[in-house]
Amino acid sequence: MARLLHLSDLHAVATGTRASGVLDTNDLLREAIDALSGRLTAIGRIDAVLVTGDISDDGSAESYAIAKAQLARLGLPLLAIPGNHDRRSAFRDAFADTAPMPDDGPLDWIAEVAGTRIVGLDTLVEGQGGGLLRARTLDFLAEALDRSQGKPVVVALHHPPLRTGIRFMDAIGLDNAEALEGILRRHDGPLWVLAGHVHGVYHCMLGGHPVVTAPSTCSAFVFDQREEAPVGFMLGPLGFGMLDTAPGGVWTACPLVMADGPYGF
Ligand SMILES: [Fe+2]
Repeated sequence: MARLLHLSDLHAVATGTRASGVLDTNDLLREAIDALSGRLTAIGRIDAVLVTGDISDDGSAESYAIAKAQLARLGLPLLAIPGNHDRRSAFRDAFADTAPMPDDGPLDWIAEVAGTRIVGLDTLVEGQGGGLLRARTLDFLAEALDRSQGKPVVVALHHPPLRTGIRFMDAIGLDNAEALEGILRRHDGPLWVLAGHVHGVYHCMLGGHPVVTAPSTCSAFVFDQREEAPVGFMLGPLGFGMLDTAPGGVWTACPLVMADGPYGF
C-alpha cells in the first residue's frame, strides 16, 4: 500500500518577484524541502510526493522549473495537479513526464503507486479563483473508479469539495461538489480525496469517503467564519500531509516547524 507525502500550494514565482508582492515563496519552499528532507528518516518509507495544486503563483515556466528543482531534492517520484494559480500549458510542459497527461483539455491522469490507484483531477478554470469539474473530468473519474479492481484509490484535486466557512475562500471554492459526490457514492472500496487550496487542514465526508486538505508550504488563512473576517493570508502555520493507504493507515497533517522538545513525561 502507498505512503504518500501530501504537499500543497507552493506558489513558486519567477526569480526576483514575490507572491502577492510580499512572500518570498521560493525561499519558503526551499526551507520546506530542507525541513522535510531532515524528517524523512523519521517519517519512514514514502512512495511518492503528491502536490495538490498551486505549484506556481504566476504560472511562469521559470516558477515551475524552480518548484520542480526543489521537489527533486526529496529524491522521490512526483505527482502533481494544477490549481487556480497554475497555467495549464506551462504546467503540462513541466509535469507531463510525471504522469500520462492529455495533449489538450483538463490535465486528468491516473498513476499506480505501490498498489494504490491515484487519480489526479484538473479543476482549473483559467482566469478565475474558483474551480470546476468538467463533464470530461467527471467521466474520467467514473471510469478510473470502475476499473480500480478493488485497489485503494486516492482522488487528488485542488479545490476541495467542502466549505470552510471562511467567506473569501468559499467564494472561490469548487462549483460542483455534488457531481463529485454522485460518483464517489457509487464506489464502495477504500478511497480518500486529497485537496489543497484552503491553505489549512479541513476534513469532511463526501459520498461516504473522507476528504482532507493539506496545509500550504508558504501561507495560511485564519479560521474566521465572521462575515467581516479580514481578507488576506498569514505567514503560517505551514505544513504538509502524509497518507498511508494500508488498512488502518492514517492521513495526518504535520507542521513544518515543531516547537521545542521532546521533553520527558
Ligand atoms: Fe493556494
